[in-house]
Amino acid sequence: MTKLAVYPGSFDPITRGHEDLIRRGLVFSDHVVVAVATQVAKQPLFTLEERLALVTTVLGRDARLEVQPFDGLLVEFARRIGAPVIVRGLRYVSDFEYEYQMALMNRKLAPEIETLFLVPSFDLTYLSSSLVREVARFGGAVGDLVHPAVSKALAAKFAKR
Ligand code: PNS
Repeated sequence: MTKLAVYPGSFDPITRGHEDLIRRGLVFSDHVVVAVATQVAKQPLFTLEERLALVTTVLGRDARLEVQPFDGLLVEFARRIGAPVIVRGLRYVSDFEYEYQMALMNRKLAPEIETLFLVPSFDLTYLSSSLVREVARFGGAVGDLVHPAVSKALAAKFAKR
């Protein structure tokens, strides 16, 4: 039986931190579905299609990894694809409260699905999509924080503005 895990997020855009966690997910699962949220809290910088395309490019050809959009409740998506595990990264104490709340609510909605928190690589702990967007917006170098395709997409996005 394939051990499936879902790694959900906004991925606006995908960073080296996300990539690190996706690969760590493969330590305990055979297949990781990177679930890209269609509806995100604030107006995203990248459209859903752009976010999906960037994740697809970044993951490259690896049969163990897959990208899918999702809307509505995450646990419903996980149920639909038969994933018993949701993977989330925990970077700082400030992440904890929101992540804990979300994990408990997800468990209430779907008791059969477990949330697994993973710790990112030390040098990527400070990284977030919002910081990357902020740095790129003002022309700062993000080359070592994101895949080259993402770096290019950020430059193109802000050149247009
Ligand atoms: O990258 P993000 O923005 O931290 O990802 C958050 C995301 C998209 C995983 C989360 O907001 C989510 O699961 N949204 C779907 C709606 C849902 O199921 N919410 C959790 C119920 S508490």
